[in-house]
Amino acid sequence: MDIIGLGYLGLESAHASDWSEYGPQVLGLGLAPSEDEGTVLLRMDERHHRIAVRQGERERLSYLGWHLRNRIAFEAALTVLEREGIEYTLAGQELIDERGVHAMAWFIGPDRQRHELFYAQSFNPHSFLPGRPHAGFMAGDGGLGHVVLAVPEWTDELEHFVTDVMQFKWYGSGMSTGRLRFYSPKLNLRSHSIGYATMPGLLGLQHIGIEVKELDDVGIAYDLVQERGIQLMATLGRHAQDPVISFYSFTPSGFPVEYIWDGVEESHERPFTEQRPQKLSVWGHKFQNAPQPSTLYAAEEATQTAPAG
Ligand SMILES: [Fe+2]
Repeated sequence: MDIIGLGYLGLESAHASDWSEYGPQVLGLGLAPSEDEGTVLLRMDERHHRIAVRQGERERLSYLGWHLRNRIAFEAALTVLEREGIEYTLAGQELIDERGVHAMAWFIGPDRQRHELFYAQSFNPHSFLPGRPHAGFMAGDGGLGHVVLAVPEWTDELEHFVTDVMQFKWYGSGMSTGRLRFYSPKLNLRSHSIGYATMPGLLGLQHIGIEVKELDDVGIAYDLVQERGIQLMATLGRHAQDPVISFYSFTPSGFPVEYIWDGVEESHERPFTEQRPQKLSVWGHKFQNAPQPSTLYAAEEATQTAPAG
């Protein structure tokens, strides 16, 4: 599949309204107008929105929106789903308008997540306003960043799904335990847009990662998080395999966001060679005594069937 990147994602949250302050004030995201009062739409660039948080009963990832290159690629992707025997639903006009795309089809993957395929995301040229003084986000065609999903075990079905159906590129394991797997869409230049963490008995969203253009914005967000007494999952640090500087703190929904600066990725010059670091980080990333992300569920309880608006 000619997927460009992770174009958008949707969350259900019992604390959706808190995101309208947290998103702009802490993360620096822009607020997009929302027709639905209970939904907070957050922007990272000129695109319609990147993160949608809908008021609901529980905390969970509702869907991931994968951006196909164009109509031809979208139609080819549907052919792949048909060939693979994966049932999909074509979105109607109302849902298409809500997502801000030209066309969309969704299906449930073997990771029990709802994956949406779309092409042509609406954008308004030169319209992005961050929620507070901020130099901006690395987004555009590269997508909104990354998600890491928990799966109870790594199966042949999952391997086939990521490698042959979605045709994601393998990046590496992050560290030598082999518990993590990182991938990026075929046409994406990021180190990873999606990761899978093997967590026995669990399914769901482990964290999301968003990337800023300037290191100072990571430092400023780190100050803000601490000033507001927001729970950290891991302190500021630099990863070993993917040498970005980042920290992890909890969102109002109770899952962590990794706030990232990568001075190298912008140039797209780093060769992505597979490595086997002995530890996750060069320095920092000291894990705090934090609660388990609220978006993780016992594998037998987790279901993903809702139409997710
Ligand atoms: Fe991450």
